[in-house]
Amino acid sequence: MAHPVQRQAEILELAPVGAYHRLVLRAEGIAERVLPGHFAALAVDGADGSLLLRRPFFIHRADPAEATIEVVFAEAGRGTRALAQQRVGDVVDVVAPLGNAFAIPTGPASALMVAGGHGSVPLFGLAERITEQGGSVGFILGAPTADRLFGVEQARAFTPDVLVTTDDGSFGIRGQITLPLTEAMRAIEARVVYAAGPTGMLRAVAEVCAREGVRCFTAVEQTMACGVGVCMTCVLPVVGDDGVSRLVRSCVDGPCFDGSRVRFDDIGAVPPDLEGAAAMGER
Ligand SMILES: Cc1cc2nc3c(=O)[nH]c(=O)nc-3n(C[C@H](O)[C@H](O)[C@H](O)COP(=O)(O)OP(=O)(O)OC[C@H]3O[C@@H](n4cnc5c(N)ncnc54)[C@H](O)[C@@H]3O)c2cc1C
Ligand code: FES
Repeated sequence: MAHPVQRQAEILELAPVGAYHRLVLRAEGIAERVLPGHFAALAVDGADGSLLLRRPFFIHRADPAEATIEVVFAEAGRGTRALAQQRVGDVVDVVAPLGNAFAIPTGPASALMVAGGHGSVPLFGLAERITEQGGSVGFILGAPTADRLFGVEQARAFTPDVLVTTDDGSFGIRGQITLPLTEAMRAIEARVVYAAGPTGMLRAVAEVCAREGVRCFTAVEQTMACGVGVCMTCVLPVVGDDGVSRLVRSCVDGPCFDGSRVRFDDIGAVPPDLEGAAAMGER
């Protein structure tokens, strides 16, 4: 847990970027503690209280000198639509930084960033950290359609090793993100893969990494209610260091997990070998 604070954050910028909205917030005491993988929980509608739960978003950038954090979000439903209708100068109630951060390799390493849609949002800060310590990165960015890609130019400014896929072929390689994955991992001799995006994509990436014997970290997006470890809405089955599977809270124990430990096929279920599962069944 990243010792979050709650702030009334002023909106400095809110502008569309393709299918997404880029939101820059000014709030003291947050940016200096943000690590890649942390997220922020934003109150989306203070007006009538009908959208009570905060909505979680990965922190894209954090600038301690300006006391700003930036998130990038798609309009998915009522909460994000309400957020998109805010104006520069409005105030948003924010709790951040939340969750854990990505594990970063010690020393120089070649890392492949694999992002589905807005999954690239938390990966750029991570790519910066890895290159700062002498490593190198490549990117595969994928989405169903071209307008759902985020960060293609940003990735290209970072490295020549960028592949883009779209399911409908409207940009880059036609097909799913896993299509060029093995080749891309081998081409840059990736020691580690970082993946963020939809659960099905994370499962597929983790499978390829396991096959190739490459370390894999995944940032999951389980639906969250409290965001601070109290309500258990966000649990998913993860294998612990002792080999025992447990339901863990993705808001405080995650959202960044060793992909080989997440039981993607069992998300939403209580597998019988899970610690405590028998006792639950006996009740
Ligand atoms: C750790 C984390 C980081 C995320 N980062 C980003 C990001 O950087 N950019 C981005 O566009 N989206 C991100 N999301 C997803 C974003 O939180 C949801 O799109 C948003 O909460 C939907 O709210 P809504 O009211 O607009 O939609 P709703 O009408 O409530 O739901 C629309 C869809 O969003 C899902 N959803 C609803 N509430 C949540 C919730 N609290 N947590 C997760 N999913 C939810 C629903 O299952 C449904 O599929 C992230 C989610 C998590 C858990
Ligand atoms: S969202 Fe409440 S415990 Fe994770």
